Amino acid sequence: MPARLGVNIDHVATLRQARGTHEPEPVAAALLAQSAGAHGITIHLRADRRHIQERDARLLKEILAIPLNIESAATADGLEAVVPVKPAWVTLVPETREEPTTQGGLDVLFLHAHLRQIIRELHASQIRVSLFVDPQAEQVKMAAKLEADAVELNTGVYADLAPGTDPATELARLRESARLGSRLGMKILAGHGLNLQNVGLIAVIPEVEELNIGHSIVGRAVLVGMERAVREMLALTNEGMA
Ligand code: PXP
Repeated sequence: MPARLGVNIDHVATLRQARGTHEPEPVAAALLAQSAGAHGITIHLRADRRHIQERDARLLKEILAIPLNIESAATADGLEAVVPVKPAWVTLVPETREEPTTQGGLDVLFLHAHLRQIIRELHASQIRVSLFVDPQAEQVKMAAKLEADAVELNTGVYADLAPGTDPATELARLRESARLGSRLGMKILAGHGLNLQNVGLIAVIPEVEELNIGHSIVGRAVLVGMERAVREMLALTNEGMA
């Protein structure tokens, strides 16, 4: 099965917030991604509200025909904003105010008691839960113990390898974690830093069901339009419609 594509539209909102006006409209971007064949839309409702706002989340949930996945910090404030929207999925991620983007996976081992409670609360609201983790066996095993529905494997280290570096070690980590997570009954997603150049080697990992890609698609969309940017990515994940 080819990997599904979740399009993260945070940076459409980044551009809007740069001027504090109403354009570009993230909801319009999500609809264009949907019509180009995206399988899901992802947004990160950060505590500092630097890009996506609660209003965006509400409108997207109302208007999209494809599943909405909201990334959130595993905090009471984060959940208070996200749960009422009732997205299909919540992805729990680590979050600090200083970081330009998510840095590394959640430490599921360290946070297990806290996460167990949050996962229960989300399940009680009929929201499925994905944990963004580094590709390490112990993290994946604990995610399964906590009854996460999915793990999203952090491809950031792979994506940040210096040009010319052999990616074999990082790819092996991702492949092994994907196999383990799938054997433990979880859905396997992957994302962070993926682009047209590096997505191919991740898309062929058989257990990876979905890729979450944001910055490179939105960056490309600025130049060629959202629908074409999504179709180009889909072509590389074997779902090309063009
Ligand atoms: N997955 C997670 C958990 C993320 O936090 C992000 C960034 O918001 C992405 C995927 C998308 O990463 P990128 O914008 O580098 O494609």
